[in-house]
Amino acid sequence: MSPPRSPLDALLDASVYFSFDASGYERHARGFEPLGPLDDVHVVVTGASGGLGLATAELLAARGARLTLLCRSRARGEEARAHVAALAGARAPRPALVCADLGDLPALDDAAAEVRGPVHALVHNAGLLPRALALDAQGLDVTVGAHVLGPLRLTARLRGALEAGSAALGARRARVVWVSSGGMYTARLSVDALAAPQPAAGYDGVRAYALTKRAQVELAAHMAARWGGVESQSCHPGWARTPGVEVALPGFTRWTAGRLRTPQQGADTQAWLAGHPAPLPSGFWFDRAARDPHLLGRRAPAGERARLWRFACERAGVSPEHFGDAAPTAAP
Ligand SMILES: NC(=O)c1ccc[n+]([C@@H]2O[C@H](COP(=O)([O-])OP(=O)(O)OC[C@H]3O[C@@H](n4cnc5c(N)ncnc54)[C@H](OP(=O)(O)O)[C@@H]3O)[C@@H](O)[C@H]2O)c1
Repeated sequence: MSPPRSPLDALLDASVYFSFDASGYERHARGFEPLGPLDDVHVVVTGASGGLGLATAELLAARGARLTLLCRSRARGEEARAHVAALAGARAPRPALVCADLGDLPALDDAAAEVRGPVHALVHNAGLLPRALALDAQGLDVTVGAHVLGPLRLTARLRGALEAGSAALGARRARVVWVSSGGMYTARLSVDALAAPQPAAGYDGVRAYALTKRAQVELAAHMAARWGGVESQSCHPGWARTPGVEVALPGFTRWTAGRLRTPQQGADTQAWLAGHPAPLPSGFWFDRAARDPHLLGRRAPAGERARLWRFACERAGVSPEHFGDAAPTAAP
């Protein structure tokens, strides 16, 4: 699905900097079609209280989509809901708000039960890059819960709504969109590393983040291979200026001063995936094109993806057969 590239484009993309930054978006976006009307489409967006999640909600509501915003803070969620409703005006229904922390697995069951009607896309956008070690109730790094276990549990609990979404769409299946990060290129999938948190002294939040973002890409591909009823995709937004980036990576924000994408530019691909009206092959998407998820040769050892599936299902409290029982795939 990658578009043909000129030698200059290939060179700029290989630089990473001039691909992930705003100039990369502007270059890749030449010829992008505006998102089509989404009047009968219902999208659940997690982490919609700010940054890319809020921008995704803005982009989708402007095309008429019905939204459910999943936010961990009710106050920030209400603000986001009022903002999106005001922006969309009569164009889209007022978004619904559901509150839960992705790290609180039982709370996600209640959250899923609050989601009304068929779901046509579920955007796993919520994310964080911790500066210090924080553990969840299972003793795992909080990034594992927020990026891997919580999204898996939520997807499992919304399975019926997503399959109803597929049936209602007809032309394509409903879609689960895992918002990963270009940072995952630096990490090889390692279930052992996910299962054993780093020591507090010398904690490297960027490493914890990259490991879980890699796991998201692998889980998305595994889920796509098992679950015929719904599409499962992963993507990354490049580098966008958001509250999360400014707080977690102040040095990076200074280094890229003036070159970061706007939140809307960063959110473009995840919004496009949520609303794209035709079937798409399972892939890792960036600026609306499928990309190689293994640029730095960080391929998982044989069997690691199936191990991840078993680990994630067990820790998320989801049966490994929940999404079908196709044989585990080899890493692409
Ligand atoms: N911005 C970038 O350049 C960039 C690059 C690569 C990947 N990404 C990915 O894009 C996604 C959005 O990032 P962003 O830059 O928009 O970050 P952000 O500004 O920090 O926003 C993150 C959102 O996720 C929510 N969130 C965090 N932890 C949560 C949890 N445990 N449960 C529920 N909600 C939670 C936050 O809620 P609160 O408002 O309550 O904090 C907020 O709404 C993330 O998955 C991130 O990894 C971003």
